[in-house]
Amino acid sequence: MLTVEALHSGYGRIAVLHDVSFAVAAGEIVTLIGSNGAGKTTLMRTISGVHPVSRGAVTFEGVTIAREAPHLRVRRGIAQVPEGRQIFGPLSVEDNLRLGAWTRNGETKHDLARVYDAFPALAEKRALPAGALSGGQQQMLAIGRALMAKPKLLLLDEPSMGLAPILVEQIFTTIADLKRTGLTVLLVEQNAYAALAIADRAYVLETGRIVLAGPARELREDERVRGAYLGL
Ligand SMILES: Nc1ncnc2c1ncn2[C@@H]1O[C@H](COP(=O)(O)OP(=O)(O)O)[C@@H](O)[C@H]1O
Ligand SMILES: [Mg+2]
Repeated sequence: MLTVEALHSGYGRIAVLHDVSFAVAAGEIVTLIGSNGAGKTTLMRTISGVHPVSRGAVTFEGVTIAREAPHLRVRRGIAQVPEGRQIFGPLSVEDNLRLGAWTRNGETKHDLARVYDAFPALAEKRALPAGALSGGQQQMLAIGRALMAKPKLLLLDEPSMGLAPILVEQIFTTIADLKRTGLTVLLVEQNAYAALAIADRAYVLETGRIVLAGPARELREDERVRGAYLGL
């Protein structure tokens, strides 16, 4: 579904991603783990198109998209849940959800109902300002907003960040449920333990380079991963 080949990106003259190549097949959860500053967010942003690629190829369902505008990539089926959620606090929960559907025409009623089905807490609070939600609910809202675009591929950047352990568990359960509905997921996490538990495959990114790749089950047993990312 998604192929990234020999991708380079950075900020001005500062190179951040070096020759990054990886792929995500339809129906998979693929996780990208790496320490703070490794380049995970930069990589996610180059896939959604909000950050430019300096060299390399990004292909989605066989089409080259590396130079395409972000809203066109959303239309193709790529939706991003950005790091830090980026919800609009003064807007109502429902208006935040509607924003997720702006790139496409037509009815949103049915899709709103589906998001509310998946996240009942959002339904109860649909008229409240999004800023009044708890951290966990705001993360649900950020995911719900992305789902309003009817994506095929969901990019999730640190969805568990700043959440209490019980909410972290809920978020990962939600991601596993989304996969069951047929969604493909690229998940960036510092919580490597939880990410490797639900992922099919994983890549390890260190200072802008992919240094390890494999089935999630195997990486969980890898000495380097256990030492550096699982604290074992
Ligand atoms: N807007 C920016 N301007 C300059 N450097 C940046 C900017 N955003 C991130 N960086 C740098 O790029 C590197 C990778 O950052 P980032 O992609 O956010 O990593 P991660 O998500 O893995 O923590 C870091 O060294 C960071 O300081
Ligand atoms: Mg990040």
